[in-house]
Amino acid sequence: MVNIYHMDIIKCYMITSKFKTFKLLIDNILVSECGYNIEDADEFFNEKYIIFYNFKTIDQYRGKGYSKVLLNNIFDYVKYNLKLNIITLIVYKNNIKALNLYFSSGFEIFMEYDDSYSLIKKL
Ligand SMILES: CC(C)(COP(=O)(O)OP(=O)(O)OC[C@H]1O[C@@H](n2cnc3c(N)ncnc32)[C@H](O)[C@@H]1OP(=O)(O)O)[C@@H](O)C(=O)NCCC(=O)NCCS
Repeated sequence: MVNIYHMDIIKCYMITSKFKTFKLLIDNILVSECGYNIEDADEFFNEKYIIFYNFKTIDQYRGKGYSKVLLNNIFDYVKYNLKLNIITLIVYKNNIKALNLYFSSGFEIFMEYDDSYSLIKKL
């Protein structure tokens, strides 16, 4: 099943499919995407939560603000459509662009590993 969530203001579509990917399409062209899973409550969180993986903007569209557009719309979608409040992800410490993106979007460090961080965003 494919859910299409129409973002009126920016005239883009975010699609969630059985492969659980948020996609930012502009004029039907894939610009940015983010895989995700919905996890059950566990030893870390006592409620269901989202894990992101493989967040990326297609090379030629980088640096134009699209990942932020996608992220902000994901936040709304997760909160109001999926009705979940927590997003987590793992990012390498040397991925400065991604760290800038996540910190400026309100993610915080949840756990620190040798070469990476686990980040959390509470919606
Ligand atoms: C990280 C990535 C998703 C950012 O996508 P993007 O669409 O180019 O990012 P945006 O243009 O929306 O910029 C969003 C923020 O990212 C950061 N950023 C983007 N490009 C940057 C650069 N060249 N240097 C430093 N920070 C940068 C900034 O914080 C920026 O916000 P700002 O412009 O308000 O300062 C993209 O570089 C990418 O796909 N990288 C390869 C895959 C990857 O590493 N994914 C993360 C896995 S955890």
